[in-house]
Amino acid sequence: MSNHTPDQLQIFLDIATEAALAGGAVLQAYWGNLEAVQEKGRPGDLVTEADKAAETAILAVITRHFPEHQILAEESGQLGDTTSEYLWAIDPLDGTTNYAHQYPFFSSSVGLLIDGIPQVGVIYDPFHNELFRAAKGLGSTCNRRPIRVSKTDQLSKSLLVSGFAYDRRETIDNNYAEFCHLTHLTQGVRRSGSASIDLAHVACGRVDGYWERGLQPWDIAAGIVIVEESGGKLTAYDGSPLVISSGRILATNSYIHSSLSQELSQVTPLSGWESAGNQLTR
Ligand code: IPD
Ligand code: CA
Ligand code: CA
Repeated sequence: MSNHTPDQLQIFLDIATEAALAGGAVLQAYWGNLEAVQEKGRPGDLVTEADKAAETAILAVITRHFPEHQILAEESGQLGDTTSEYLWAIDPLDGTTNYAHQYPFFSSSVGLLIDGIPQVGVIYDPFHNELFRAAKGLGSTCNRRPIRVSKTDQLSKSLLVSGFAYDRRETIDNNYAEFCHLTHLTQGVRRSGSASIDLAHVACGRVDGYWERGLQPWDIAAGIVIVEESGGKLTAYDGSPLVISSGRILATNSYIHSSLSQELSQVTPLSGWESAGNQLTR
């Protein structure tokens, strides 16, 4: 495994920033002016011309600087040299459903994994003009000011956030039971519709914890670094080490981590909501 100096990581962070800002500028330009909104397959899983144009802008920055790196981008899939130790995980528009409805929670998210470990992350929320950045060992910032997770240490006093994957109508493991259970035990559970924004908000202390399943590496790679560098804790639901490819993540301010993990392990699925195929009815 290769070690990188702070200066090397800073260079990656600066390029990731350039890329996320380029993506965000495209999202700003298309905001309110969408012409083509298509479903990718599952109900609610949308793609717009803004997703594609933002991805083109981000890829242009990354490939100009690092033509030899590997890329996993939501709309283009796997690109570049698959033997490279560097993998850029890119979500040009995280929160497409929000964006298509002009609900203002979305971002361009750019993460860099080195030897499979997220080490650099930038999340740019152009609507609120917030730029979240972090690199391993270099700390985390929002608009260049250091950020920190909250200090809430009781679930009953916490505000959480979660989300529902596009396969929610096809599986009993759809997070509905967990959402109800934790709504009952806390001051509230929000659903922003953008996993990257959720992680950024854990990092800066606006919410105390976040969990979700059915996620892709491009949804969470950048946010993982930003939460870690802000003093947060990230694991699987049961507290075991996080496996990004599992799509399942528990991210907290660290203080409520074990209680939230315990509660998640006690939940049994709510039956009656699963249906075959892409049915919209219960
Ligand atoms: C989605 C958002 C949402 C999460 C979904 C993701 P997209 O990403 O992050 O919050 O609940 O699982 O797929 O499709 O808007 O890029
Ligand atoms: Ca996403
Ligand atoms: Ca997306």
